[in-house]
Amino acid sequence: MDRLFLFSLFLSLALVSSVVASTVGDGEYASIIVDDTLIRQVVSSSHGHDDLLLNADHHFSLFKTKYGKTYSTQEEHDHRFSVFKANLRRAKSHQLLDPSAVHGVTKFSDLTPSEFRRNHLGINKQKRHLRLPSDANKAPILPTKDLPTDFDWRDHGAVTGVKDQGSCGSCWSFSTTGALEGAHFLSTGELVSLSEQQLVDCDHECDPEEYGSCDSGCNGGLMNNAFEYILKSGGIEREQDYPYTGKDGTCNFDKGKIAAKVSNFSVVSIDEDQIAANLVKNGPLAVAINAVWMQTYIGGVSCPYICAKNQDHGVLLVGYGAAGYAPIRLKDKPYWIIKNSWGENWGESGYYKFCRAGRNLCGVDSMVSSVAAIHT
Ligand SMILES: *[C@@H]1O[C@H](CO)[C@@H](O)[C@H](O)[C@H]1NC(C)=O
Repeated sequence: MDRLFLFSLFLSLALVSSVVASTVGDGEYASIIVDDTLIRQVVSSSHGHDDLLLNADHHFSLFKTKYGKTYSTQEEHDHRFSVFKANLRRAKSHQLLDPSAVHGVTKFSDLTPSEFRRNHLGINKQKRHLRLPSDANKAPILPTKDLPTDFDWRDHGAVTGVKDQGSCGSCWSFSTTGALEGAHFLSTGELVSLSEQQLVDCDHECDPEEYGSCDSGCNGGLMNNAFEYILKSGGIEREQDYPYTGKDGTCNFDKGKIAAKVSNFSVVSIDEDQIAANLVKNGPLAVAINAVWMQTYIGGVSCPYICAKNQDHGVLLVGYGAAGYAPIRLKDKPYWIIKNSWGENWGESGYYKFCRAGRNLCGVDSMVSSVAAIHT
């Protein structure tokens, strides 16, 4: 491409973004305006040629082979193919509305959005504002000046391998063990994989205010309730002593096999610098997010133009980067590094990168907790 063209493109883009930024002072409002124009643009350009949709048959065969999918009847097969095609169209629109990520066929492409929500998420929360368990503290405000520009707890040995919750709404238990595995590593120097199944089977801790919002295995739960449960029960076993089955079962907790203990836990303020400071100081954090963009996510930094703040999925924040993607403002932007519990064959080897947009996108900043472990 010709230099002059690139330069004028750059100029006009810079002009557009500075006009938007200068006419509207408030950050959140400005971004909504930007979002709105972009949404209209991408919607009007989305009727064009589309290989994925035209070759849906072929992509469905590849999908079945890659993920070993078989369907028991022809009806089921045809139904799954129509769901698959609907998901191709969704992936296409996700791609347009989330251009810094790559969206397409994933192992969840034969599930309807409601099947996906029911079987692969699991945050149990109806109300926007929850009261916290009695032992939850508010995290103290930490200094943020000298934080590293990039940070990843995987580089420090505080993160176990990616696990897979299977068809069970137990995300909350993986987020909980991930945070405690990190805290235990910080207090003992030992990385021990901890038991989600103990939480699925034994933790029925309830939100103190919301009737019916109790941790309930494959039907969902909350990380703060689970920290409260581990605190009260005395501790949690190792993964290998109480292995994951992905099904609700009867509690089989053996106090003699406790491998890690919660000392205290805190909720972190919604401020992204505070989240980063708590991450660096206390280890990986349990966070909740709206997972609507994750069913079609393949890689890159997800930063959708729009995303509601109702979180339905518990994950683990393990790090951040300063410059991971360049949206319209032509400047590299920071992002979070998130460990998920859908196996290594989802996302970037099991991980999700999500923009640190400074506006609680997808609710990622508003249910963040930090845990400390007792040195055992
Ligand atoms: C745990 O308690 C200690 C001592 O009060 C405090 O400094 C620390 O921030 C707490 N950690 C968490 C994760 O709540």
